[in-house]
Amino acid sequence: MSESTNRLALTADQQHGHRTHTCGELRPDHIDSDVTLKGWVDTQRNLGGLVFIDLRDRYGLTQVVFAEEVSAESYAIAEKLRGEDVISITGKVRERENKNHELPTGLIEVYVTDIEVLNTAEPLPFMVSSHEERQQNTGDDLRLKYRYLDLRRPALQQNMLLRHKLYQSTRRYMDTQNFVEVETPVLMKSTPEGARDYLVPSRVHPGQFYALPQSPQTYKQILMIAGLDRYFQIVKCFRDEDLRADRQPEFTQIDVEMTFATEELVYEMCEGLIVAIWKDTRGIDIPTPFPRMPYDEAIRRFGSDKPDLRFGMELMDVSQALSGSGFRVFDSTFENGGAVVAIRVEGQGELGRGKLDKLTKEVVQKRIGAPGLFYLKLPADGSDFTASVKEEVLPRSFVQNVIDATHAQSGDLVLMLAGPQPKVFEQLGTLRLHMAKDNGLIPQGNDGPWEFLWVTEFPLFEYDEEDGRFYAMHHPFTSPKPEDIPLLENDPGAARARAYDLVLNGTEMGGGSIRIHQRDVQSQMFRHLGIEEEEAEERFGFLLNAFRYGAPPHGGIALGLDRLVMLLTGASSLRDVIAFPKTQAATEPMSNTPDVVDEEQLRDLHIRTVMPKGDAE
Ligand code: AMO
Repeated sequence: MSESTNRLALTADQQHGHRTHTCGELRPDHIDSDVTLKGWVDTQRNLGGLVFIDLRDRYGLTQVVFAEEVSAESYAIAEKLRGEDVISITGKVRERENKNHELPTGLIEVYVTDIEVLNTAEPLPFMVSSHEERQQNTGDDLRLKYRYLDLRRPALQQNMLLRHKLYQSTRRYMDTQNFVEVETPVLMKSTPEGARDYLVPSRVHPGQFYALPQSPQTYKQILMIAGLDRYFQIVKCFRDEDLRADRQPEFTQIDVEMTFATEELVYEMCEGLIVAIWKDTRGIDIPTPFPRMPYDEAIRRFGSDKPDLRFGMELMDVSQALSGSGFRVFDSTFENGGAVVAIRVEGQGELGRGKLDKLTKEVVQKRIGAPGLFYLKLPADGSDFTASVKEEVLPRSFVQNVIDATHAQSGDLVLMLAGPQPKVFEQLGTLRLHMAKDNGLIPQGNDGPWEFLWVTEFPLFEYDEEDGRFYAMHHPFTSPKPEDIPLLENDPGAARARAYDLVLNGTEMGGGSIRIHQRDVQSQMFRHLGIEEEEAEERFGFLLNAFRYGAPPHGGIALGLDRLVMLLTGASSLRDVIAFPKTQAATEPMSNTPDVVDEEQLRDLHIRTVMPKGDAE
C-alpha cells in the first residue's frame, strides 16, 4: 500500500472505526442498533429530501437512507454520490417500510447519521450494478479489460465463492482418503498430452527451453514409484490449443494418482470426491455408482465419447433397412464399408422445406462437414410421409423399412446421414446435439439433472489420416488391456486401453488411465507411436529408468476443475469461473498479455524474434 492510501485508510478507521457488519448481515434482530457499514454505491435514488442507496459488498446489499432532516450534511454528500463510489456510513437500523422479501437484508434499512467518502469512481465503462443483467452490448473484451469492475458483479463473485468452496471440499475429501498434496515443477520437460507446449527459454542454457506442464503426468507417476502411495494436486496446466467456451490455455486440474490402482478403485475414489463436492458446494446428493458405457457403445448410440444422457434421440444404424435399395448414394456407402445412421426428432414432422434446407446447408454441410442430409417427415395428422429423396430414386418400401426400424410415429422427423464409419456416427452425434438444443431438450441453468457417466474401454490409439500414423488416444503412458496386447503387433487400431473418462451432461469432466509400469511394455508402446528408441530415451529416459527400480502398478485421473465449477454454477463459459481468463485469441486484455519485451531481455535469453510476413515493420 502506498503511503497516501495508507493514510486515507487510517483516517477512515479513525472516524468511523471498523465496519460493525457486512452489507449482507443486518436482520430485524438488529433494529435500533448503531452500525457502521462500508462498501460500494450500487444504486442511488434521490426522492428529494431522501436519498436511498443500495450499499454493496461481497456479502450482499443493504439499503441505506439519507434523510435531510436526520443529517443535512450527510444528505448533501449522498446527493452527489455516483455508482461505485466507496463509502463508510454510520447510522441506526430501522424496520423498512417497503419490505423486499427477495433480499436477505430486505426487512431493514439503515438511517445514516454520518458518511465518509473513502474514494470516488470515475464514470464507468459499463454498468456494474447488481441490478443490471449482463448487458448484451458490453463486449467480453471490454469486461476483461476492466476485470476488477466485472468481478464486482454478484454473479461472478458467487462463481468465485463456489470455486473457493470446491478447493476446500477437494482438500478435505482427499485428505480423508490418505492422498498427499505434492507440488510438481512448473518449469519442466515437455509431456505429450496432445497440445502444443508453452515454452520458457533458459538464460543459463542457451538454446534450451523449459516447457510449462500440459499436465504433471510424468511427475505423478514418478511419485508413485517414489512410494508416496496416493498423490493429488490442484494444479495449473498449460496447453497452447484452439480455444472454445470450455477450453482455456491455462486451466486447473484436480490431478490424482494411486499406487496399486485398478479401474474400480479410481472410480470409487472419484465418485466419492464428486459426491463431496456437490454436497459441500450446492447441498446436492449425487447417487453412486455412476453408470458406465464402453467407448464403442457411446459412439454407436450417441455419436460421441461424451454422451449427453439428459435426453434420448439415440442414433440408429438403418443400413440393414436400406440395403439393396438401388439408391446410388446409399449403395456406394455400403460398398465402401460405410453406414446410414438415423435419429428420430419427435414432434418435428412438419418442419418446413426452408428450415430443412437451411439445416442441410448451414449445419450438416458447413459445420458438420457431411455431404448431404436425408430426411423423412411424418405429418402429425397421420397422412402420408414425405421423403427428401424422390420415390423413383429411393423406392417407398425402403422408406417404410426405415420408419419400421426407427419406430417413427406420426409427427416425427427422421434425419439420416450416410458415410464412412465411425465418422458418420460422430457427424450425426453433432446433429443430435444441434437438434436437441434447437428443440429445447437441453436443460439450461444449474439445477440438474446431473447425468454422470464413465466412458470406458477407449481405443489405445487413434489413426491420423493426414499424418498417416497412430497417436495415443489418451497419452503414451496408458496401459493396453492385457488381453489386447497381442493386437499391438498386427492390428493396433483394434487394441483397447485401460483408459476412462468421466462425463457429465455431455462435457468431459475428467480423464485418466491405469498406466504402463513395465519398461519393456512402455518401450513397445513408444515404438508403436513411431517414437524411436533414441528419441524415447532422450524425452522419457527418466521415466523408463525409474521403471527399472521397482515401479509399482499405478493409475489415476485428472478432473477439469474449471469445468466442474462451470457446470455447478451454470456458467456458459469458463471465462465466468476463472478470475483472470484469456480471450479467444489467448490474450489477457487487462494487463495486455502477451506483450513485447526489451531487446536486452531477449539478448539475455539468446532469442531473436522473426516476425511472420506481413507483421514485419
Ligand atoms: P486430460 O488431457 O484428459 O488428462 O485432462 C483432464 C481434464 O482436464 C480438463 N481439460 C481442460 N479444461 C479446460 N481447458 C482446457 N484446455 C482443458 N484441457 C483439459 C478436462 C479433462 O477431462 N494427465 C492426464 C490425466 C491422467 O491420465 O491422469 C490429463 O491431463 O476436464
